[in-house]
Amino acid sequence: MKNIIVVKFGGSLTKNKDAQKKFIKDLAELSKKEKIILVHGGGPEINNLLLKFNIKSKFVDGLRYTNEQTLEVVEMALSGKVNKMLTSELIKCGVNAVGISAKDGSIALCKTIKKLGFVGNPVKINTKLLEILIRNGFFPVLSSVGIDNKAHSVNVNADTLAMDIAIAFKASKLIFLTDVAGVLDGDKKTIKEVKIKNVDGLIKSNIITGGMIPKINSCKHAVEKGVKEVLIIDGILGIKKMKGTIIRK
Ligand SMILES: Nc1ncnc2c1ncn2[C@@H]1O[C@H](COP(=O)(O)OP(=O)(O)OP(=O)(O)O)[C@@H](O)[C@H]1O
Ligand SMILES: [Mg+2]
Repeated sequence: MKNIIVVKFGGSLTKNKDAQKKFIKDLAELSKKEKIILVHGGGPEINNLLLKFNIKSKFVDGLRYTNEQTLEVVEMALSGKVNKMLTSELIKCGVNAVGISAKDGSIALCKTIKKLGFVGNPVKINTKLLEILIRNGFFPVLSSVGIDNKAHSVNVNADTLAMDIAIAFKASKLIFLTDVAGVLDGDKKTIKEVKIKNVDGLIKSNIITGGMIPKINSCKHAVEKGVKEVLIIDGILGIKKMKGTIIRK
């Protein structure tokens, strides 16, 4: 399939209802001209539900350990709440949206990272189901829950999933929308262009931290693997304005 655009909608933006509304409206418009796969995260919604169920998390090197109970909540938040909400909103705007997880049709076959429990990375992307949907006029909305070789759910970082999907489809564009104006420097100013050779340095010098680390690493890998246009943009200004950071060779 040619000219696929992979868009990742940050869970961080689900807290901002105005940004979300604008995103859905603009994405619906864009989908009339372009073939898009939407991947989404859901950090805040996962945290909300864990609080509601009074589930305490254990952290390993700053990352949440996902046991069976936490995984259940992750799946409820991502594949239940956020996925179905985005799907409904897109349908309201006249889009033929289909909300699925990366587990359906074994889209993302994953290998777990032992020390993190049921957290893992895709080792194989099966494009078939997504291709069938797109070819038949459907708009896939993908939550970042994958599957392992025992058919167990796996919690995948949504940035990593978006990257792997973009690579598998040889996407023309990979766009990350988040709650900040792209990659910011030490003075909180947007860095307009990041060269992939500078990514490690930005992380080592603590300019890029937290949730921006998997995002920039995903961008770097996507550029290395030939995705032509890779951007991290201000999700509050939205996908029409496209203001943020471009990641280049
Ligand atoms: N140099 C940097 N520039 C911009 N943001 C940064 C930087 N370093 C760290 N961050 C943090 O990264 C955050 C974005 O990543 P985060 O994982 O929180 O959001 P998301 O990926 O959009 O949401 P989700 O993970 O739920 O899908 C920003 O809100 C900011 O706090
Ligand atoms: Mg994130």
